[in-house]
Amino acid sequence: MTTYTAKAHTNIALLKYWGKADSQLIIPTTTSISLTLDEFYTETAVNFDASLTSDDIYINDDQITGAAGQKVVTFLNLVRQQANITDFAVVRSNNHVPTAAGLASSASAFAALAGAASAAAGISTDLTDLSRLARRGSGSASRSIFGGFVQWQRGNDDQSSVAEPIQQIIDWPIQLITVVISDQPKKINSRSGMQNAMQFSPDYPAWVKRTNAMVQPMQQAIQNHDLEMLGHMAERNALEMHAQNMMANPAFNYLTDRSWTIINTVQKLRREGILAFSTMDAGPNVKIISDPKDTETIIHALRSSVPDIQYQIATPGPGITIQQG
Ligand code: DP6
Repeated sequence: MTTYTAKAHTNIALLKYWGKADSQLIIPTTTSISLTLDEFYTETAVNFDASLTSDDIYINDDQITGAAGQKVVTFLNLVRQQANITDFAVVRSNNHVPTAAGLASSASAFAALAGAASAAAGISTDLTDLSRLARRGSGSASRSIFGGFVQWQRGNDDQSSVAEPIQQIIDWPIQLITVVISDQPKKINSRSGMQNAMQFSPDYPAWVKRTNAMVQPMQQAIQNHDLEMLGHMAERNALEMHAQNMMANPAFNYLTDRSWTIINTVQKLRREGILAFSTMDAGPNVKIISDPKDTETIIHALRSSVPDIQYQIATPGPGITIQQG
């Protein structure tokens, strides 16, 4: 059968997904909003081949077995089931999401895999169908199908839990400075972290309510190109997500002293009139939402707090592309 290659970009959540109403289908408890990023992406080629006796999976040219391989095989099984085929596949994936960027690669990885595998298996590559399928690999991957600002509608079943674009062409100044605190794999992966928070934080149901109540105002801030409003909501929602982890029993925490130094520096910059806002995911790295015109001022302030700081700049990026070959 023919090989298809898909390219999907990673995304940063401005309104977070942190908990599953259905862990089998990956239906979230909250509607989330993200920005797809241009600089970081995964490119994946898939070919179903009747002569294979098992799936062959390569990530950055290394053959993958064990748990990571199993996640891909489980995903391919879903595609085979939908396509009504039994052939195994060769999957070659190249990640252009450097660990040093401090961003997760599972979003771009499962979005690209959904695109390439669907095309190779001959099932629908309609973007909504791809978002629904990518979601089954990793929740945040549902958003990486689309470019720009994206909303993953929580929904209540497999059909309705899909992402959709809010604004695909971003013609106003917004960027993300990813500050690298650590490039080590996270201590608690997001899957078990969100499960713990959901189960053991007494504030969790209220966090879900507050997050879902922010969907409309955040959409409005995006429509109005209102960086200040958007940033404030994103920082608040991220801090409240991390508060859930600290309120779990036993409590756990992704943020280190260095993360807090950065968060405090960003808040200090705001008091000085610079529009900069922090967001953090399941790790210690801090991502700063800001206007590109303030980059120099922000980096200078960060360097005064943490001299050996490492950072990368990301700008809004496009949705998935799929091609034959
Ligand atoms: C903190 O999408 O990695 O980045 O669905 O279990 O694979 P699984 O989780 P994943 O979780 C992402 C969590 C987050 C927030 C977000 O991206 O919305």
